[in-house]
Amino acid sequence: TVLVVDFGAQYAQLIARRVREARIFSEIVPSTMSAEEILAKKPAAVILSGGPSSVYAPGAPQLDSGVLDGSVPVFGICYGFQAMAAALGGTVARTGLSEFGRTDVSVVSGGVLLDGVPPTHRIWMSHGDAVTQAPEGFSVLASTGGAPVAAFEDTDRRFAGVQWHPEVLHSEHGQEVLERFLVDIAGCRQSWTSANIVEEQVALIREQVGDARVISALSGGVDSAVSTALVQRAIGDQLTAVFVDHGLLRKGEAEQVENDYVAATGVDLKVVDAAEQFLGHLAGVTDPEEKRKIIGREFIRTFEAAEREILSTPGAPVKWLVQGTLYPDVVESGGGEGAANIKSHHNVGGLPEDLEFGLIEPLRALFKDEVREVGRQLGIPEAIVGRHPFPGPGLAIRIVGAVDADRLRILRDADAIVREETTAAGLDSDIWQFPVVLLADVRSVGVQGDGRTYGHPIVLRPVSSEDAMTADWSRLPYELLERISTRITNEVREVNRVVLDVTSKPPGTIEWE
Ligand code: XMP
Repeated sequence: TVLVVDFGAQYAQLIARRVREARIFSEIVPSTMSAEEILAKKPAAVILSGGPSSVYAPGAPQLDSGVLDGSVPVFGICYGFQAMAAALGGTVARTGLSEFGRTDVSVVSGGVLLDGVPPTHRIWMSHGDAVTQAPEGFSVLASTGGAPVAAFEDTDRRFAGVQWHPEVLHSEHGQEVLERFLVDIAGCRQSWTSANIVEEQVALIREQVGDARVISALSGGVDSAVSTALVQRAIGDQLTAVFVDHGLLRKGEAEQVENDYVAATGVDLKVVDAAEQFLGHLAGVTDPEEKRKIIGREFIRTFEAAEREILSTPGAPVKWLVQGTLYPDVVESGGGEGAANIKSHHNVGGLPEDLEFGLIEPLRALFKDEVREVGRQLGIPEAIVGRHPFPGPGLAIRIVGAVDADRLRILRDADAIVREETTAAGLDSDIWQFPVVLLADVRSVGVQGDGRTYGHPIVLRPVSSEDAMTADWSRLPYELLERISTRITNEVREVNRVVLDVTSKPPGTIEWE
């Protein structure tokens, strides 16, 4: 394991991902962790992340210099580079020349770290102070206008560092530099692959579960599909998966779960067709929050009824629930330890008070792209593994107005066309999410053939984003927009107008409701 010490900048997760892209497992630890604790984890290497702009700033996080005792390889990035230089006796000074953004770096001598990278190349900087003198034993490898010492290494002690951010895409050769350190200086083995993740998790889950039974809820999304398939791979028929079909998924999605997913994974699936029940409760409801409340409530009711039924069937006791928690959720909630499986108390409302479930969270150590890779490794159909994020309340919050079967059909047909054309244009991975919205209570006049029409508008809402907290509207090619518009207005009789939402978030949210 490579430990990334998080000095509080937003880059630690990115660094951890890049390390894993080099097929080396990595975890994030807080900078408050003592050197003793860090070394006790026996890391293959330690990476000190970027942080505030100055090591001299009041309240700047401190590096416990014990990690530099020479027992583990250490790589410093930006703030971590300066903290390392200062701790080892180098000089960190205000040069008066801050560098932010794109900068050219000049390689003075390649050493091991920069061997073979071009003598000048573009990198991404963000610093105020600079290292003016490297600590003893280090060779200086590169410099920039504002940073006399921009990269150094001491291969005897297996220490190295760079002033720039090799983890960001704007830094040319960044991944190469990281791998040089990890492989050539630190001697890490590149064996973190999706096949190994599956093998390791399967063993852990078997040990954790024993002969107890397990319940999992499938939503149609990527995370629940992959976590469920992993548990199925580990314990087979001890698992029962429940799929509550609320009738609000997109065209073909429920069938993909019920047929293709089951065929590919062998999961014992209990399907609850609750479409009519949900539609009944949603009838006439137009308020978005009210829709969400109804759907959330009905979902829990339905899932618990299914759970009670499973609990009442003979066999070993049911002790575990599967959950698709991902690593970013764990880090953001301060969990950070990255344990692949943890047990915790879980009480589901409506069940006997004394019934305790443990949680199985086999994706707790993974990033989203790794989850997709594991899903592929498990043979889950690409149509599910490659899916964009989709809200739990489904199409109900993409119909502005009351939801009924007819409106759902109109939206499903339009949405299917959008997905077909976007996929055909090869743009799925450039788009974060592509909501298609039906303005069910709006009508506008149109003309088709010789006749006047009075139909509904469809709104296209393609967005790009990193995390859904902020987003920008996607600049899709006109040809694609044209094909989508022509096909929807020709093939979906009730729609006579297609409009494009060009609002960023903020101020607009991604969904319309
Ligand atoms: P907004 O519309 O707030 O959406 O910009 C941000 C992200 O959250 C998704 N979303 C939901 N997901 N239940 C969910 O599970 C919800 O009620 C819900 N509302 C929005 C949305 O699709 C986007 O990815």
